[in-house]
Amino acid sequence: MGHPRCGSTVFIFASLVALVGFCSGGSDAPRGVAMGFVFDPKAKCDPPCEHAGVCIRNNTCFCSKGYEGETCRYANCYPKCKNGGVCLRPGKCRCPLGFGGRYCHKVTCDGGCWNGGECTAVNGVSKCICPSSWAGSKCQNAICPQGCRNGGICVAPGSCSCPEGWLGGACHIAVCSRPCLNGGKCISPNKCRCRPLFSGSHCEERKNSH
Ligand SMILES: *[C@@H]1O[C@H](CO)[C@@H](O)[C@H](O)[C@H]1NC(C)=O
Repeated sequence: MGHPRCGSTVFIFASLVALVGFCSGGSDAPRGVAMGFVFDPKAKCDPPCEHAGVCIRNNTCFCSKGYEGETCRYANCYPKCKNGGVCLRPGKCRCPLGFGGRYCHKVTCDGGCWNGGECTAVNGVSKCICPSSWAGSKCQNAICPQGCRNGGICVAPGSCSCPEGWLGGACHIAVCSRPCLNGGKCISPNKCRCRPLFSGSHCEERKNSH
């Protein structure tokens, strides 16, 4: 449509025009009423026009930029709010959980995804897709395929942090601070299992064989 009547109508509707700004800024958003309207200064709108909309004819509101609907009640957002977002104010969407960005067009994972995980929408729900060596809702848990035994904790992929007294990739090797003598075997921290004929805390004694 363009603004063919702007020049002649702007004089009469100067204040209205200033309010809605349709001559200056051009128009990409729909209005409550198309251009070329007849303005009735005695018009009554009941219910009244909201958000600074102007009553131009009985029960007809001319909405200010950013609002629409019969009484200009509803904000409009362009581009439209995506993924079930609700237009709160002109150009301002409220996004459902799991979505963000100006138009709710971005998937967001609460707290983010760690360790190279990727936030992705799966059936409309955002979740972290983790690299193979990480797990958990944020990919925060390392995976140790070998397992961590004896109270060890998996702290990085394939890497256990072992409690004192244990060593090895899976915390499976007991440590005896004094070595087990005479062929004895360290079976848990500082505990030797001695071969027959030997005894003592580190198998240092030869039993009497009578
Ligand atoms: C607008 O409504 C009022 C009553 O509320 C009426 O008197 C008037 O004639 C109406 N104007 C038009 C243009 O219909």
